[in-house]
Amino acid sequence: MKKICVLGLGYIGLPTAAMFAGNGHIVAGVDVNEDIVAVINNGDIHINEPNLAGRVKEAVAAGKLYAATTPETADAFIISVPTPITAEKRADLSSVCKAAESIVPHLKAGDLVILESTVPPRTTLDILLPILGRSGLCIGDELLVAYCPERVLPGKILEELVNNNRIVGGVDDSSAVAAQNLYASFVRGEIFLTDATTAEMTKLMENTYRDVNIALANEFALISEKAGFNVWDAIYFANKHPRVNIHQPGPGVGGHCIAVDPWFIVESAKGEARLIETARKINDSMPSHVVNLVRQQLQGISDPKIAVLGLTYKANVDDCRESPAVEITARLEQLGYRLGIYDPLAKSKKIVTLAEALRGADLLLLLVNHDDFGFINPSRVARLVRRRSLIDTRRVLDVEAWQKEGFNVTTLGEGIRREDTACSLRDASRVN
Ligand SMILES: NC(=O)c1ccc[n+]([C@@H]2O[C@H](COP(=O)([O-])OP(=O)(O)OC[C@H]3O[C@@H](n4cnc5c(N)ncnc54)[C@H](O)[C@@H]3O)[C@@H](O)[C@H]2O)c1
Repeated sequence: MKKICVLGLGYIGLPTAAMFAGNGHIVAGVDVNEDIVAVINNGDIHINEPNLAGRVKEAVAAGKLYAATTPETADAFIISVPTPITAEKRADLSSVCKAAESIVPHLKAGDLVILESTVPPRTTLDILLPILGRSGLCIGDELLVAYCPERVLPGKILEELVNNNRIVGGVDDSSAVAAQNLYASFVRGEIFLTDATTAEMTKLMENTYRDVNIALANEFALISEKAGFNVWDAIYFANKHPRVNIHQPGPGVGGHCIAVDPWFIVESAKGEARLIETARKINDSMPSHVVNLVRQQLQGISDPKIAVLGLTYKANVDDCRESPAVEITARLEQLGYRLGIYDPLAKSKKIVTLAEALRGADLLLLLVNHDDFGFINPSRVARLVRRRSLIDTRRVLDVEAWQKEGFNVTTLGEGIRREDTACSLRDASRVN
């Protein structure tokens, strides 16, 4: 049994703390947010993640997990604080630095420090180590330090914490092995050992791979609207090739990982990351494209109202960080459109009920593919809206059902509409 201090009790830190607490360790969770600390000490949670509430309640009741606003002596320290980007698209490492500084007075010989936050390459070596060195402990000899990126999917965090493979990058071999041994208390996936900088880059490359591929899909979507083809069908058929896996287009890329991490490479590669930077810009341009589609649809209508479906950065999560839907709605508001925003999961003061969002609307704008939206009944919607017009940026709605109720349906990336093609591709074109 070890005493572990987890710094940052958010989407990553809290599930990690709960896993260690449920697998034989005592965990002191630390967060600078007093409200979060109070919620956790009460046995509750402040984020929406399946099965987490029960785990935290159990661990707190058993005395295995407690929270505080300051760190304390422990055998291992895990830093999982935010690493957003600045307006200049550079990594903001201030929380990592503050968290590292806060543990320095508590470090003793034999301790292990693991950085889990996503960071630009060399952060562990160039930023974390000098701070930890202020403890006077000899790194590698007396103090073990590793970088271990987190690769879990929100909505499946507990399952993936256990089953995903992990990459552990030590500042030396003994640090890597110590971190591997600690994670082995609950990880069933393989744990691969490497150096800290390679581990940092591994995480960034994973998300950059996704971002660049989404940018390619988005570029195809923009081309389709000019060239007159259906991008969703074209991608579906292209992916029938055994070595092709084109991603899905959409209204932009959000979240605090895929939309952020590629910038960490761009920042550190100084001119070499040309493809990565272009991909970021393409994905960042998609909200403007959606706004233009909306403007075209609403031309000539007086005081139009838009019913927006979805505000989160992706489907079936409550997280709105870097969400393209947030950017699109802000821009539409700036342009003077009245909005009724409905999202069954997002926590935002802007959200209204579905009926309120729809009442008197001139356009439905679907921005997020929450499962719930598939159950919206077009005939009920038809009774509430002023004008039957719909833009689906995710291609999730059943176009025929909406058209049957008199809706004019526009789908992002459908340069040619399915009803215009010689044969119906509807079944073939449903891409999962
Ligand atoms: N959420 C994900 O799906 C995900 C996946 C992989 C990697 N990551 C990375 O993990 C890191 C954490 O992300 P998150 O989503 O858990 O963030 P989060 O914002 O949900 O939680 C971070 C917590 O850290 C706290 N905090 C800030 N400064 C602190 C400090 N000095 N000491 C103690 N606590 C402090 C904040 O109050 C907050 O509660 C980021 O680098 C992120 O990029 C996140």
